[in-house]
Amino acid sequence: MAATAVLRSIPVLMLFLMCLEQIVLSQVENQFVFNGFNGTNLHLDGIAEIQPNGLLKLTNTTKRQIGRAFFPFPLKFNRSSTNYISDSLSFSTNFVFAMVPAEETNPRGGHGIAFTISPTMEVPGAAPTQYLGLFNASTNGLSSNHVFAVELDAVPTAEFGEISGGHVGIDVNNLRSLESAPPAYFADDEGGNKSLDLLTGNPMQLWIDYEDDNKVLNVTLAPMRSNKPSRPLLSTSVDLSTVLLDSMYVGFSSSTGELTSSQYILGWSFSKIGKAESLDYTKLPSLPHQSKSKSSSNLQIIIPLIAVVFLLVTIPGGAYVIRMKKYEEIQEEWEKEFGPQRFSFKDLYKATKGFKEKELLGSGGFGRVYRGVLPSSNEQVAVKRISHDSRQGMKEFVTEIVSMGRLRHRNLVQLLGYCRRKGELLLVYDYMPNGSLDKFLFSNSMPNLSWGQRFWILKGVASALLYLHEEWEQVVIHRDVKASNILLDANFNGRLGDFGLAKLYDHGSNPSTTRVVGTVGYIAPELARTGKATTSTDVFAFGIFMLELACGRNPLEPQLESEEIILADWVCELWKAGAILGAADPRLEGNYVTDEMEMVLKLGVLCTNPIAANRPSTRQMVQHLDGNINLLDIPLDSVRIDITPVENVTSTDFAGSIPTSYEENSISLHSFSSTISILSCGR
Ligand SMILES: *[C@@H]1O[C@H](CO)[C@@H](O)[C@H](O)[C@H]1NC(C)=O
Ligand SMILES: *[C@@H]1O[C@H](CO)[C@@H](O)[C@H](O)[C@H]1NC(C)=O
Ligand SMILES: *[C@@H]1O[C@H](CO)[C@@H](O)[C@H](O)[C@H]1NC(C)=O
Ligand SMILES: *[C@@H]1O[C@H](CO)[C@@H](O)[C@H](O)[C@H]1NC(C)=O
Ligand SMILES: *[C@@H]1O[C@H](CO)[C@@H](O)[C@H](O)[C@H]1NC(C)=O
Ligand SMILES: *[C@@H]1O[C@H](CO)[C@@H](O)[C@H](O)[C@H]1NC(C)=O
Repeated sequence: MAATAVLRSIPVLMLFLMCLEQIVLSQVENQFVFNGFNGTNLHLDGIAEIQPNGLLKLTNTTKRQIGRAFFPFPLKFNRSSTNYISDSLSFSTNFVFAMVPAEETNPRGGHGIAFTISPTMEVPGAAPTQYLGLFNASTNGLSSNHVFAVELDAVPTAEFGEISGGHVGIDVNNLRSLESAPPAYFADDEGGNKSLDLLTGNPMQLWIDYEDDNKVLNVTLAPMRSNKPSRPLLSTSVDLSTVLLDSMYVGFSSSTGELTSSQYILGWSFSKIGKAESLDYTKLPSLPHQSKSKSSSNLQIIIPLIAVVFLLVTIPGGAYVIRMKKYEEIQEEWEKEFGPQRFSFKDLYKATKGFKEKELLGSGGFGRVYRGVLPSSNEQVAVKRISHDSRQGMKEFVTEIVSMGRLRHRNLVQLLGYCRRKGELLLVYDYMPNGSLDKFLFSNSMPNLSWGQRFWILKGVASALLYLHEEWEQVVIHRDVKASNILLDANFNGRLGDFGLAKLYDHGSNPSTTRVVGTVGYIAPELARTGKATTSTDVFAFGIFMLELACGRNPLEPQLESEEIILADWVCELWKAGAILGAADPRLEGNYVTDEMEMVLKLGVLCTNPIAANRPSTRQMVQHLDGNINLLDIPLDSVRIDITPVENVTSTDFAGSIPTSYEENSISLHSFSSTISILSCGR
């Protein structure tokens, strides 16, 4: 009888045990303390690793890397169904971290560590550098991210409204922080704030506490062994109920950029029920020894060593000083915010093997371009060296160049960053393996491009121009569209390069005399007259480029018969004579789509109309190329616009306004061409 009672109660007992187990498990999942990470089960991603002594190393000093480490089980945050423990969003965590910059970049490094609550442990497509491995340019700011983070960011990013140096920020779905502050802590004993430097390499502790009831988030920073300060660094009201999903992962995301440091977590405590337990500092793993903190027990070795080192240093010392000089750069206060986009001259010097002739890709009006391989990442780049002595306008120019580094379009050559030296500016771009388009068009030693390739390049570059003119946050006037500024990537996509560069000469010039920047043969008449570059003057230059591509010749060829010298006028005359296809590049040997060729030639003529108002807009131009507007039916009469009265333009009007430094064409040719193109053809 008794036995059956016991037997009957077994299922009940088992049920009870299962419930108990669930509660215990939930508790384990809701609260954990890691005094070092030896043997712990963390989900590691990117270059993160746990070192033999239990140190969690999120990143080393390799550039542009991501390291992430997450508690491997999801935690219940916003459970809508009933649950045993708590369905509040409150949590409390504290951890000890260290950011140790590489010695040569001392004292600066980057990029940062973020404590993260995220729906997933991995984020494919997340970017390093300023994105901290959390987002990328297209996902940053989306409310669908459901990501909460507290960033310890060593490098300010102007894009996210960060202006001063390192900072601690509260991020909700967006790296533009809800609130941020320079790293500091309230020293209770002294009753005042003390600022901290994230990049000393010394361990520091961060506490993050969120109270769901009054929706207050506190973030508190302090050096490792201090008690938790009584006043938080940041205390802000934020409602996380729209951010945190039912099931979330907690952990760390970290990145390096151009500036790097080894980034570590020494210990971590987390709790969803009440305050997180304190860490036991005595159990935390130690950081790898930094050379500056040599222990004194080695003194008897060190003294003779010093003597030897002294001898060694004094002999090659001269060489060392010379080397320092060789790599000398200019860096001013205002450039601090451009940290991530700034390359060191030493790296560029090494990348280009000391700017060897052999690495020279080309040279033009704006300077010499070298091929290089960045030592840190093995990335191939093109480095443009521009001599530039004017200090005036440098700040505006560099600011603009850096902001243009944010332009993203598949038909633009990506600008990666810059470096400055005395009298010199260096710009670093993506390397384009097939070089510039003009070589393919005008040199018989290069393979001929088929019409299909040419038309593809044309459409691509036109879409890049539309992006610059209409689709980015600011209107960017290129000012130097021409075949030699169109580069070809590995797949023969056309990429527009050197955007914004023309402005360098604008900024550098004396403001009282407006210089015309651009290249002879591509300069719209009103640009030469007024010096004012507009989207329409870019369309003019693009029109010239279209004709170059279709006809396979330069815009000006003085050795030809007089009616053929100016390409645009010649094509216009052929159109009038009903023989526009006669302008097609003879190297194509008739292998082209007639409709496309005719359209490109006619569009080229329309875009080079001497009167700006009669040119198509950039968007119309793209619509023509995409076949959305049919141009073939346009009667010639509507193209011919009478210019009444023609402004009396004489060659002297241009003389002073053309930069004499251009190598491509002479001044006399230009003034001659502009005059003719306005007076002839009657477009
Ligand atoms: C880490 O754990 C392993 C076994 O899991 C042990 O052999 C080793 O001594 C531990 N290291 C430290 C520094 O505690
Ligand atoms: C950083 O870690 C990665 C992967 O573990 C490794 O390939 C690289 O060499 C390391 N870099 C440095 C500077 O130690
Ligand atoms: C950005 O990240 C998302 C998902 O995280 C990914 O799908 C997308 O391809 C990434 N975009 C870029 C430009 O890398
Ligand atoms: C200390 O810093 C906090 C946060 O930045 C600020 O609100 C507070 O006024 C400062 N206190 C003192 C005494 O400077
Ligand atoms: C946050 O800080 C404020 C101000 O010091 C304090 O009153 C509050 O109790 C703190 N809340 C939490 C959750 O730590
Ligand atoms: C969190 O839970 C609340 C209450 O159940 C709900 O209104 C809210 O939509 C949830 N938030 C998310 C992001 O799921």
